[in-house]
Amino acid sequence: MRMYDIIMDKRNGSVLTDEQIKFVVDGFTGGSIPDYQVSALLMAIYFKGMNAHETAYLTDCMAHSGDMIDLSPIPGIKVDKHSTGGVGDKTSLVIGPIVAACGVPVAKMSGRGLGHTGGTIDKLESIPGFQTSIEKERFFDIVREIGLSIIGQTGNIAPADKKLYALRDVTATVDNISLIASSIMSKKLAAGSDAILLDVKTGSGAFMKTLDASIELAQAMVSIGEHMGRKTVALITDMDIPLGHAIGNSLEVIEAVHTLQGHGPADFTEVCLQLASNMLYLAGKGELSQCRKLAEDAIASGHALEKLKAMADAQGGDVSVLEDTEKFAKAPLTHKVLSPADGYISHMDTEHCGIASVVLGAGRASKGDPIDYSAGILLLKKVGEQVKKGNVLAELFTSQVNSIAEAERMLLQAITISDTKPPEEKLVYARVT
Ligand code: URA
Repeated sequence: MRMYDIIMDKRNGSVLTDEQIKFVVDGFTGGSIPDYQVSALLMAIYFKGMNAHETAYLTDCMAHSGDMIDLSPIPGIKVDKHSTGGVGDKTSLVIGPIVAACGVPVAKMSGRGLGHTGGTIDKLESIPGFQTSIEKERFFDIVREIGLSIIGQTGNIAPADKKLYALRDVTATVDNISLIASSIMSKKLAAGSDAILLDVKTGSGAFMKTLDASIELAQAMVSIGEHMGRKTVALITDMDIPLGHAIGNSLEVIEAVHTLQGHGPADFTEVCLQLASNMLYLAGKGELSQCRKLAEDAIASGHALEKLKAMADAQGGDVSVLEDTEKFAKAPLTHKVLSPADGYISHMDTEHCGIASVVLGAGRASKGDPIDYSAGILLLKKVGEQVKKGNVLAELFTSQVNSIAEAERMLLQAITISDTKPPEEKLVYARVT
C-alpha cells in the first residue's frame, strides 16, 4: 500500500477503506509516514470529507494507538462527560460530585486550559495540595472507596491524535467536523467508560460558533459512540455568555462550592442539573425526570458537596478551603470595571472575556506557563441586565499590575450595551441521541 495512492483516492473523493485508514494511523504514529504526506491527506479530507464509517474507523484506530483504560475493576456503569470547552465552564466540579452522590461511580480524566477556555485540572489544582497526577491503582481505589476521582490524562492515551492534532493545528485543518469528532471521541473511547455524555458548547465563547455547526458536531460524535458500542448522548448548551459569574481557577471552585451548597448562579445550576440528569439517565437511574429529582436531592441533602470534599481529601487537597471558601488565597490586586453608559447588556463576546482572564494570569499564553490560581474575573452584570453609567460591571483579580488596563479594555470591548433589553437566550438548545 502506498501513501501516495491514499492521498490521491481521497483527493478524488473516494471513500477510504479500513485498511487504508489503519495504514495511515499506524504509519504516522510509528514514524514511517512523513508529516508532509499526512498534511496532504488531511487537506484532502478537509475538502472531500469522510462518511460515518470512515470517521468511526479512524476514531477506533486512533483510540487503539495507545493505552485503552480498562475500568471494569470498578463496579457499576461508568459514565464519562466531555465538554467541548468554554468560559466559566466549571460543570465537572459540580456534576461529578452530584452523580457520585447518586451512587454512580465517576472515574474521570480531564484536561488543562486551552486558549481562552479553562480546564478542570487547573481548577482542581487551585485547591492547595490537590494532586491530579496519581497512579492508576490509587485512582481506581479512590473511585471504589468514595465514588469519585478526577485526574489528568495518564499514560499514553491516543498518541495518534496528539500527533495528528499538532499537524492539523499548523496546516489549517482543525475545523473539520469528522476530524474534530474523531479527535475528541478517540480520547473518550480510550478512557474506558461504558457511556458518554457530550456537552457541546455553542456561541461566541465556543469552538463551534453556530448552532448548526454544534449540532452537526454532536451528531458526528454520537454516531461514533454508537458505532463503537457506547451509549452516547449530547446536549448542546449555551456558550454565548460566560457560564455563571466566575472566570478563573479558584474563583470557579468557589462558585462550584456555592452551587453545591444550593446558592449558585441560576444559569450555571440549571446547566449542571441537566447535565447531571443525563449522566444519571445513561447510568440507568431512571427516566430523565426521575434523574433530575435525584440530582436536585443530592444538592439539597449536602451529599454532593460531601463528595467533592471527600475527593479533595483523598487526592491530598486542603479540605478546609472548601469548608470555608474565604480561606482561598486572594489575588493581591483587584480592580472594578465600570459601565461606560446607561442601558441593557445585550451581548458579551465570550471568547474575549476568556482572553481577558488569561491576560490577568488565569490561563497560559504558551504551553507550560505557570498559572495564577487566584487571578480572574467576577462578572457582576450579565446579558439582559440593566445598568447605569458607573455601575460595577465586573471585578478583576490579578497579581500583575500591568495586566489590568489591557484586561479592562478587552472586557469593555467584549460587552455591548444597548437601549433595549435583548431576548432571553436558551441555556440548552438541543439533546442529540
Ligand atoms: N478538541 C480536541 O480534542 N480535538 C479537536 O480536534 C478539537 C477540539
